[in-house]
Amino acid sequence: MAELTRTLVFVKPDGVQRGLVGEIIARFERRGIRIVGLKMVQPTRELAERHYAVHREKPFFESVVNFITSGPVVAMVLECPNAVETVRQMMGATNPLNAAPGTIRGDFGLDIERNLIHGSSDPEAAEYEIKLWFRPEELLP
Ligand code: PPS
Repeated sequence: MAELTRTLVFVKPDGVQRGLVGEIIARFERRGIRIVGLKMVQPTRELAERHYAVHREKPFFESVVNFITSGPVVAMVLECPNAVETVRQMMGATNPLNAAPGTIRGDFGLDIERNLIHGSSDPEAAEYEIKLWFRPEELLP
């Protein structure tokens, strides 16, 4: 089997409010992906700004930070071969209008901001985000 890698995922406030946490986690479990960390978090502004720091100059920065801090999210670290790519395929395109049916955003989303789920964009982002959201002792070895 290919080397196991990890990625940071969180169900955004819209997914939590709509009661889709179980559905989303079930999809990862059914795929055979291992959950190595899991918690509900009310993100602070500081956490959100550090998480989206690479987008600080983008026109949507303020909006996405406001949205992510608007309610609790369910954060998790997922482990499988090619974790970043595997999870992003399951999430579907950032804009749900372009997300294929069968993906999480393609099945449940319509709005680019309220797009249900975040997954790290590349392995470097995954390393940064896992350290930002989880203490080492919160993760399984
Ligand atoms: S980019 O410009 O391609 O680097 O950005 P992208 O990866 O598409 O999006 C980064 C995150 O910002 C969110 N986003 C938006 N939020 C609100 N309004 C607009 N217009 C918008 N465009 C992008 C998008 O959902 C991404 O969030 P995450 O949490 O990373 O999935």
